[in-house]
Amino acid sequence: LSSPLNIGIAGLGTVGTGVLRLLTEKPALLAERSGRRLQVTAVAARDRHRDRGIAIAGYRWHDDPVGLARDPGVDVVVELIGGSDGPARALCEAAIAAGKPVVTANKALLALHGTALALAAEAKGLSLGFEAAVAGGIPIVKALREGLAANSFTRVFGILNGTCNYILTQMQETRRDFNAVLAEAQSLGYAEADPSFDVDGVDAAHKLTLLTSLAFNCPVDFAAVYVEGIRHVSALDIAYADDLGYRIKLLAIARQTPHGIEQRVQPCMIDADSPIAHVDGVFNAVVAEGDFVDRTMFSGRGAGAGPTASAVVADLLDIAAGRKAPTFGVPATALRPLAHSPMQRHVGPYYVRLMVSDRPGVIADVAAVLRDQKISIESLLQRGRAAPGQAVPVVMITHEAEEAAMVRALSQIGKLSAVMEPPRMIRIEQL
Ligand SMILES: NC(=O)c1ccc[n+]([C@@H]2O[C@H](COP(=O)([O-])OP(=O)(O)OC[C@H]3O[C@@H](n4cnc5c(N)ncnc54)[C@H](OP(=O)(O)O)[C@@H]3O)[C@@H](O)[C@H]2O)c1
Repeated sequence: LSSPLNIGIAGLGTVGTGVLRLLTEKPALLAERSGRRLQVTAVAARDRHRDRGIAIAGYRWHDDPVGLARDPGVDVVVELIGGSDGPARALCEAAIAAGKPVVTANKALLALHGTALALAAEAKGLSLGFEAAVAGGIPIVKALREGLAANSFTRVFGILNGTCNYILTQMQETRRDFNAVLAEAQSLGYAEADPSFDVDGVDAAHKLTLLTSLAFNCPVDFAAVYVEGIRHVSALDIAYADDLGYRIKLLAIARQTPHGIEQRVQPCMIDADSPIAHVDGVFNAVVAEGDFVDRTMFSGRGAGAGPTASAVVADLLDIAAGRKAPTFGVPATALRPLAHSPMQRHVGPYYVRLMVSDRPGVIADVAAVLRDQKISIESLLQRGRAAPGQAVPVVMITHEAEEAAMVRALSQIGKLSAVMEPPRMIRIEQL
C-alpha cells in the first residue's frame, strides 16, 4: 500500500458520525479497493464535549473548521456542516486555497456557489466530490458524469426529497390531510421542526441544480428553478388522482425544451403504473433519459447516516485512488450558460379542480374561459350534487396547454361567482 490518505472531517452530526463509523468499521476493505489506507486524523464541530456515540478522542480537534482545512496533517477535507454560506463555505474555500480536495454533502452550498467552487478547485487540479449531496445513497452523480457520459440528455427528473415523498405516500395511504401527516412525520423524526426547506421544495431544487449542471453542462443556476412545494396538495386531490389513474409526487425536473432548459420542482400527477410512481416513503429516485441509452432509473435511500456516508466514502475512495473527474462532467471553465425556459412557457396537460355551487350554466361558463385561452378539455368529472349553497368539486384534465394561458384562465375562472374557492391546479408529467 502507498501512504495513507489523511482525512479531516468537519461536522460530526448525522452524516459526519456515519462517515466516521464507516471508515472505522472496514478499513481493510477500503484500503483494498483504493490502494491506500483511509485514516481520519482531525475533526471539527461546535461542541467538543457532546456525546456522539462514537469515540473521537483519537483525532486532532479543531474548534474552527478553517483551522482543520489548514492542518498539515490533513490531505482531504470532508465538509459535513451544512448551510449555503458561513462556516461550510469558508471551510471549502480554505481547503481549496490550501491545495486540498474537498468532499461535501452540502447541496445548499453547491446550488449557490457550486460553479465558483468548481472553478477554484479545478484551477488547482483538485477534485470537489459531492455524490452525497444529491439523492443520498444513489450514485447518480457518478452515473450522469461517467456511466452515461456518452449521452445527450433530454430530461432528468426525480423524487429528491424523502420528507415530501414520505408525506405524500402517507396521504395516499391514509387519506389524511397534509397538516396531520406533517405533524406525525415531525413526531417520528421524518420531518424537521422547521420543515420549510423540505416541504416548500427548496431542498429538492438545490439538488436539481446539480443534476442539471451534470446533464446539460451548464453553470449551476438556482435562480432559474421554478419551485413549488406540497403544502397545497389536499386529500381530495390525492383521491381524485387515484380515481384518474395517477399518483401525486413532488418531482424535480430538468428538461430540454425548444426555448431552453426548463428546471422545476412541483407536485406532479404521474401515471400510477409508471415505475417512479411506486417509489414510496422516504425513498428517492432519479430517471435520466439519454439519446442512446434511452430511459434509466435509479432508486434508493436519499438520506440517513448510512446511505449518505456510503456516498461520501465513495468520493474519498476516488481521491485515494487518484481517480479524478471534472466536477460537473466537463471542465468548469467549459460550462456554458444555456437559455433558461421560464415556467410561463411550460407546455403540458393539467389537472384542475374547482369547487362550484351547483347551478345551471357553471360548466358552460368555465368551458368558455378555457376556449378563449385555447385550452381544450380531455375529460371532466363531476360526482354527486351539492346541497343548496354548498360547493361541489368539478375536476378537469386538459390537453396540452401553455402555462401562461392556464394561469390566465384560472384567474378568470376564479372570479366566476359560482366558483367558491380558488381553483387548484396540478401539472401532469407525461412519462
Ligand atoms: N442528514 C442526512 O440524511 C443528509 C443527507 C444528505 C446530505 N446531507 C447534508 O449533509 C450535511 C450535514 O447534515 P447532517 O444531517 O449531518 O447535519 P447535523 O446532524 O445538523 O450536523 C451538523 C454538524 O455540523 C457541526 N457544525 C455546525 N456549525 C458548525 C460550526 N460553525 N463549526 C463547526 N462545526 C459546526 C455541528 O456541530 P455540533 O454537533 O457540535 O453541534 C454538527 O456536528 C448538510 O449539508 C446536509 O444537507 C444530510
